[in-house]
Parts: sequence; structure tokens; C-alpha cells
Amino acid sequence: PSSSSLKGKKIMITAGPTRESLDPVRYISNHSSGKMGISLAEKAAERGAIVTLILGPTSLAPTHPSIQTIPVSTAIEMFTEAKKSHPQSDIAIFTAAVSDYRPENPSPEKIKKKDGKLNLTLVKNPDIARNLGQEKKTVQVHVGFALETDEGFGSAEEKLKTKNFDFIVLNSLLDPEAGFQKDTNQVTFIDKKGKSQKSPVLRKEELASIILDKIESFFQTTES
Ligand code: C5P
Repeated sequence: PSSSSLKGKKIMITAGPTRESLDPVRYISNHSSGKMGISLAEKAAERGAIVTLILGPTSLAPTHPSIQTIPVSTAIEMFTEAKKSHPQSDIAIFTAAVSDYRPENPSPEKIKKKDGKLNLTLVKNPDIARNLGQEKKTVQVHVGFALETDEGFGSAEEKLKTKNFDFIVLNSLLDPEAGFQKDTNQVTFIDKKGKSQKSPVLRKEELASIILDKIESFFQTTES
């Protein structure tokens, strides 16, 4: 709708998995499809926002012509692009399933099979949301996601604080309708005041609209 307070706002969204190479043919990654982030990008563009989608490797792509998609592969590439977009962004949404670790010394050649065990040393990747959270200005709104295999409330609250999110969207894999590759999701919203709210089972597109409504409410309270 033309009355949307997102009209003309700049939104950066990280989405999808990252890939961390072991050698030229193999990588470490995860099951993220990027669906949630792509849905958010589409819905925000429909509301007139200027969207930059920093997207890890996935077979899915947004269709709205105004979305600027920046394809990336590794966590470090995603971080580099996010750092470039962040200062101009009014809103940052961190949906990406960033690999927490990467191989310390990727082999320049294909690793050969040999007898016995193969040890891999992994080093920590930068936490994109946490780093940019430290640079967040009061006028910027940051939204994060937490995917937990247990109920996850406590760890989601912890992430909300350490990453300086305005609110976090908790997905628990205990909910049968939530998670990777699915078209539906059931989530709990937790905000900075400790207020929480569980959603019904929703299609990811519907959830995207609800998340954007919540973001709009931040601008309505700060601008009026
Ligand atoms: O700590 P955890 O990975 O569970 O936190 C999830 C949130 O942090 C998500 O919003 C995710 O996009 C973001 N994140 C990030 N960079 C990382 C790890 C997570 O931006 N390296």
C-alpha cells in the first residue's frame, strides 16, 4: 500500500546459507534455502522499500525487479557486502544461516583420500549481526532470527541482547511446521522489553508481512 512507512526506506537483508571451502570441490554448509529472507525482500519491495538482498548460494531468487541482489558465497564475503550496505540502511534484517566456522587452511588442491582419520581445523567466522549491531545508530532497526533445536527462549533472549537486535524471531525445530526448506513457519517474537508473542502456523510470505508490520510500527512511534 502507498501509505506504507517503508516507502523509500533502505533495507538490507542477509539470506541463505554460506559455503566454506575445504578444497576446490568441497565445502561446509547448511540446509538454509533462503526462503524467509527472499519473502521479506519481495514483500518489502512491494511496500516501496529499497531492498538490498545479500544472498548466499541457493536455487531460489527474488522476482521483484527493484530488489538489488548481491550474490555471495562465504561468510566473509557476506560480511564484506553487509558492511558496505549497513551505513546507508534504515533497516537490517539478518535471516542468513551463516556458517559459524570455516576451514583454517583450505587446500588449493583436492584433498586426497588416505588411510585413517582426516582432521580438519576450523576457525570462527565473524558474527555479522553482532558486528553491525555494535555500529547500529538509534534510528536504525535491526531484526534477527534464532533457529533452535530445543524450545530456545533463553538463548534467543541472549542473542537479542548480544547482537543488539530490536526484536528477534525464534524458530524452534520442535514445532513441526517450522524450519529449513519448509513453506510454513511458527515463531515466537521477542522484543527488547522482554515481551514475547507466539504466532500461529503461517506461510513464510504471511510471516514476512507480519515482520514488516512490526518494523513499520518502530517508525510510526519514532516519527510521530
Ligand atoms: O548465534 P546464531 O547463529 O544462532 O544467531 C542467529 C542470528 O545471528 C541470525 O539473525 C543470523 O543471521 C545472525 N548471524 C550472523 N552472523 C553469524 C552468525 C549469525 O549475522 N556469523
